[in-house]
Amino acid sequence: MDKKEIETNYKKKIKLLTNYNKNYYDKSSPLVSDKEFDNLKQDILLLEQKYKFLNSSNSPSKTVGFKPSKNFKKSLHRVPMLSLGNAFSEDDLINFEKRILNFISEKNSFKISYSAEPKIDGISASLTYKNGNLIKGLSRGDGKEGEDITANILTIKDIPKKIIKKDFPEEIDVRGEVFIQNSDFQNLKEKFANPRNAASGSLRQKNPDDTRKIPLKFIAYTFGYEQGLKIENQFEYLKKLNEWGFKTNPLNKLITGVKNLLTNYKEIEKKRSEIDFDIDGIVYKINSFKLQKRLGNVANAPRWAIAHKFSSNKGISLVKSIEIQIGRTGALTPVAKIEPINIGGVLVANATLHNEDEINRKDIRVGDTVIVERAGDVIPHILSVEFKKRPKDLKKFSYPKKCPSCGSKTIKEYNIITKKNDAVRRCTSEGYECEKISIEKLKHFVSKEALNIDGFGKKIVETFYKLKLIKLPQDIFRLDFKKIEKLEGWGRLSVENLKYAINEKKNISIERLIYSLGIRHIGLENAKLISKYFKSFSKFKALSKNKSYNELLNIDGIGETQINSVKNFFSNKINVEVLDQLETILNIKDALDENKNGKLKDKTFMITGKLNGISRAEIKSLIEENAGSTVSSISKKLDYLIVGEKPTKRKIEEAKNFKIITLDQKQFLILLNKTS
Ligand code: IVH
Repeated sequence: MDKKEIETNYKKKIKLLTNYNKNYYDKSSPLVSDKEFDNLKQDILLLEQKYKFLNSSNSPSKTVGFKPSKNFKKSLHRVPMLSLGNAFSEDDLINFEKRILNFISEKNSFKISYSAEPKIDGISASLTYKNGNLIKGLSRGDGKEGEDITANILTIKDIPKKIIKKDFPEEIDVRGEVFIQNSDFQNLKEKFANPRNAASGSLRQKNPDDTRKIPLKFIAYTFGYEQGLKIENQFEYLKKLNEWGFKTNPLNKLITGVKNLLTNYKEIEKKRSEIDFDIDGIVYKINSFKLQKRLGNVANAPRWAIAHKFSSNKGISLVKSIEIQIGRTGALTPVAKIEPINIGGVLVANATLHNEDEINRKDIRVGDTVIVERAGDVIPHILSVEFKKRPKDLKKFSYPKKCPSCGSKTIKEYNIITKKNDAVRRCTSEGYECEKISIEKLKHFVSKEALNIDGFGKKIVETFYKLKLIKLPQDIFRLDFKKIEKLEGWGRLSVENLKYAINEKKNISIERLIYSLGIRHIGLENAKLISKYFKSFSKFKALSKNKSYNELLNIDGIGETQINSVKNFFSNKINVEVLDQLETILNIKDALDENKNGKLKDKTFMITGKLNGISRAEIKSLIEENAGSTVSSISKKLDYLIVGEKPTKRKIEEAKNFKIITLDQKQFLILLNKTS
């Protein structure tokens, strides 16, 4: 057989396997026996081993488990399912506690108790109980909206279906992890790459009878919406969960102080291989609910909890080539294409090299044997080169000085904060002028946190861009669906679905839209701050006409870096054109006042000096929770100046000139109806 024939034969097999997969998992009606299926899979893997040029994204060496069925109804979580920040080192953990102590303005000697819960690597689920009956089970989804997997949840033996206990709340979303024990996974090894994939796949079977066949387990650890929960701390909640019939992690512990958290971490890490379920770290949650409430959340993770990850898995491989990827903000990231290796059940074929300096520092060359590390969900990276194994004639890697996509000059920017040149090299084109940047910007535009267009994934962006169907964000709303219908893999129904999904997202909030523009340094949180300030999109857009960028200084949380970035964004004609077009196409909702009728409605505050027992961040949250706002400069518009210890005298004088009311901390708390 020549190369062409081998390839055709291989592709045929892949197509067949994809079809078997689809029928088995999505339609729940297998076309062939398990044995036949496994033989075909084996054939493909052998072919790939023998002929290195064979490659397909649908190969069983790349796809793990199977794609979830699209057949589930979606449902909103009444309380979002948050994610957790990560700590990878002792320092990260020490800093976590420092941030907390700072926020609540307590000294280092203040003792905090934590519920330390080994973090099971499974799939989280939220179970709604009403009057003791399990009425709904949702997957996490994007945290705001999950899939209704009630029928599958009902098949899990660990999950109580009816709870008759006096102290069980009238209504509660019990949340926890669905997983598969390692011993049970042994029998599923053929089908899935690791226990987590097995749990995820099984939980999202279309037919609950298929889920029932898999020995899924459930461990409960938190709650979402509740009514009638009379408990004051996390550890007590875990105890109650047991009394109500839920399983909890037997290795959970109540621990005080970071030092003791570290001792426990080391003990559990040692035991890790003996435990019959995969854990990838330990979750620490502040035990007191009162303190949790006071600390609140940052973006989509609580300030009061963190996941302390275990050290990663490593493997040895060979660098086949070094490619330069160009990100949405023009950053050039070198990526090593390596000989695929299995690290902890995941096939790794790419490893990030971070930046030019990193390649030089580690002296990584094409052809080198390297140690690759994969830590949690983070992109694998190269730890070090095995210099002893380096062939004699390997050349040093020379980093491109021009953007490989558009040929523009690349530069390392000067960072005003670190007072150093950035390690990252960037393409100096202005964005949409560079093809690769455009594609990344478009991917960001349709992504989950941005427009969240259902089914409009990264692959589709790439295909549509190549076919010149889209170039700028507005093109998404003017797609030539007739053309798309004729493309391979598309049909009437999928085109209709896409049309519907796009149309649905024409109603958009101002903050999502600002975020989706992909302005550098303007993430979701900053987009929210900007939206809250400008309220309407047209006022935000007017920045480009009025060139009133310094106005952004009034927004607490927005600094020079962000302002320069916004300025840069508006100085580009294409960007302004994109905004104009989007404004005509979309129905942009103004920002809502979060708490319209709070006690501090329409009042502005500024703080000077040190406060007692409460940090600035907390006082700011308090003001905002009560519909007030904080500003960072004194003007006529300021209503109150809160004066702490050692205030800036100039500010007090300025306030006097403007006849602004000054309050000390006590007076402010009285204003809030609180006593200190
Ligand atoms: S609490 C606000 N507790 O970790 C608290 N999560 O990265 C959020 N997880 O999606 C969750 N064990 O799947 C919590 N004892 C535990 C956990 C745990 C595992 C998972 C969960 C969540 C992810 C957060």
